[in-house]
Amino acid sequence: MKKILITGAAGFIGSALCRYIRKHKLAHIVGLDNMGYAASREALSSLGHDQHFKLIEADIGDSEHLQSILASEQPDGLMHLAAETHVDRSIDNPEIFLKTNIMGTFTLLEAVRHYLPTLNDPQRHGFRFLHVSTDEVYGSLGATGQFVETMAYAPNSPYAASKASSDHLVRAWHTTYGLPTVMSNCSNNYGPFQFPEKLIPLMITKAQRGEPLPLFGQGLNVRDWLFVEDHAEALYLIFTRGRLGEKYNVGGGSEIRNIDLLDQLCQLLDEALPTSAHRPHKNLIRHVADRPGHDERYAMNFSKLNQELGWHPKTSLPDGLRQTVTWYLTHKSWCDTIHQRYSGERLGNVLPLTRK
Ligand code: NAD
Ligand code: DAU
Repeated sequence: MKKILITGAAGFIGSALCRYIRKHKLAHIVGLDNMGYAASREALSSLGHDQHFKLIEADIGDSEHLQSILASEQPDGLMHLAAETHVDRSIDNPEIFLKTNIMGTFTLLEAVRHYLPTLNDPQRHGFRFLHVSTDEVYGSLGATGQFVETMAYAPNSPYAASKASSDHLVRAWHTTYGLPTVMSNCSNNYGPFQFPEKLIPLMITKAQRGEPLPLFGQGLNVRDWLFVEDHAEALYLIFTRGRLGEKYNVGGGSEIRNIDLLDQLCQLLDEALPTSAHRPHKNLIRHVADRPGHDERYAMNFSKLNQELGWHPKTSLPDGLRQTVTWYLTHKSWCDTIHQRYSGERLGNVLPLTRK
């Protein structure tokens, strides 16, 4: 069985990917994470006794540490998910996004570039580096159309710009040095263990507490939601079978306006909490100042991934939302621990320097 190094392994998607790979006994895993605010050891607790999984606390910006991990662990491939990921935090404090997402990815690429020549021929030829990115690099869509892989990049937030930069670095390291890379760009994920700063878990946890649900602007922005376990499956497929030097869009085929999503969530909460004093939860929704630079609409065209590798999302939005609501309601202690670190205050609400 091959050994994969997974960065960001204790994060929302990274941990789902580790659980997916180990559930199907696809590979040994060395997880790497600097255990920042979004990391969760509990998300990996089901792998606690798995001899084929281990977690190393390390920072992707620490070149020496990365090189020693690569030399001692001798992975056959790398899946890179470590990043700063929350758009609103990137508006408040862009620097850490540039440091982690750009310089961190650069440091990782360089560590791998120096690691590959130390491998024997078969291991070197089989090595693959998957860079996990986002649809936000493409910018914003109007009322129609979809993102396709050939589109020019037009990132709008500091987060999106940092991810776009990292995508360009990965492309350049492939073209210039022949690093065996493949890339994925995915739409909004949701599911268990997502840090409650992102829309869906933030709204579920706030509604449960009877707190106002802050909907940015009119709530007409559209996102394309993908259940995280479907994303994990796509990532493993792209990592193992995607063509080197290529990029693949991953999407949920589930476009919905934020206001309609919130309606559905509130209905699910009404059903799940029939004796709650906060029913109907819909009454908790409050329109608040819009996110600066708020992208209007995302929609992914993932036909390349479907046609080349046969992937499609398996979980419908209603099913995934129901599972997610149930998960958060039954993992109250996990939510409470996180609430001590982040209590749901508004982030990224800066005033524009000039009026548009
Ligand atoms: P997350 O914030 O839940 O997890 C990121 C993980 O990276 C955390 O565990 C964090 O501790 C770790 N990390 C951060 N900086 C690090 C560093 N310097 N060194 C080592 N580890 C570090 O994010 P996520 O939602 O799981 O996203 C994972 C990846 O998928 C990111 O690259 C993100 O851009 C991408 N992505 C996310 C979504 C989404 O909807 N969540 C969609 C498309 C792409
Ligand atoms: O599209 C992929 C991206 O999806 C990932 O690359 C990012 O890492 C991930 O954070 C996510 O970005 P978004 O900005 O789309 O996700 P977020 O959950 O922050 O917001 C989703 C939508 O909900 C967006 O239109 C803003 C809105 N929103 C968000 C929050 C936190 C609100 O209306 N109120 C809120 O309080």
